[in-house]
Amino acid sequence: MTAAVTVRVPGKVNAGLVVGGLRRDGFHELSTLFTTVSCYDELTFTPAPRLRVTVSGPAADGVPADKSNLAAKAAVLLAARHGLDAAVNIHILKRIPTLGGMAGGSADAAAALVGCDALWGTGLDYTELSLLAAELGSDVPFCLLGGAALGWGRGELLEPLETAAPYHWVFAVADSGLSTPAVFAALDGRRKSAGLPTAAGAVPAELPSGLVRAFRGGDPRRLADELVNDFEPVALKLRPSLAETREAGLKAGALTGLLSGTGATYAFLADGAEGARAVAEGLSASGTCASVRVTQGPVPGPSIISYY
Ligand code: C5P
Repeated sequence: MTAAVTVRVPGKVNAGLVVGGLRRDGFHELSTLFTTVSCYDELTFTPAPRLRVTVSGPAADGVPADKSNLAAKAAVLLAARHGLDAAVNIHILKRIPTLGGMAGGSADAAAALVGCDALWGTGLDYTELSLLAAELGSDVPFCLLGGAALGWGRGELLEPLETAAPYHWVFAVADSGLSTPAVFAALDGRRKSAGLPTAAGAVPAELPSGLVRAFRGGDPRRLADELVNDFEPVALKLRPSLAETREAGLKAGALTGLLSGTGATYAFLADGAEGARAVAEGLSASGTCASVRVTQGPVPGPSIISYY
């Protein structure tokens, strides 16, 4: 019997995020370019009398250590589909910032699908796992896939994307996050008050074609001109201090800055590893963020790093 499975899983940033209208199911149509980045959580799954979640690590604060954790929900979903009891201890070594727009919770859910599938020998293939992933959340299918991808629908329809070279991203982590539903609602409110439509079908959600071309090319200077996130003005309104974080990153030499997902983490695209180090130093010294992560991506998705 398998005694323990450890899965390493990366966070992500959206190099492009264009938000369309609100659908009847409560989700927005969107068009996005996801890329994983080398900031990893590590989850260890061990058999236990009942489902239990423990959390440690630099980003552990505020992560629920109970059944409400998305990793626990993933384990329960997988177990239920196989008539099993989710009798597993999930330990999360948390490094991906929470409520930061880096899909930390979704990454842990993807890792739990992979880890519990290995622990229980349920033997699902990628397609079966990705259907479960979509039930758990809009970003979970991408977290399961890894690498980089274009995303449509509510973010669950994916087409893998290659790049000629990895990019260097530096993240400025805020001292508190922003709620994803609140940021979506604020964007709708802003559109309504400007007299713009908000319903699905009435708002186009298409990424600029230059973004996809630039991303494939691998040149960060070209990519920097194309990054887009529709949530940026909304997040700056909800959290005006993000403007100072942005300034600090740019002053430290970032090619450009961009809100990560729905925030409140801010992502900076740097010119190579040297540039990334300089941006990180400048941000740390600026006092405009709680912590800094230096990464590169795309990187592969969840991988089993220990199995015995
Ligand atoms: O899918 P997920 O659980 O991550 O979504 C959390 C919330 O974010 C949804 O309940 C919805 O309010 C909002 N959302 C959205 N449109 C999307 C994805 C998320 O409105 N495409």
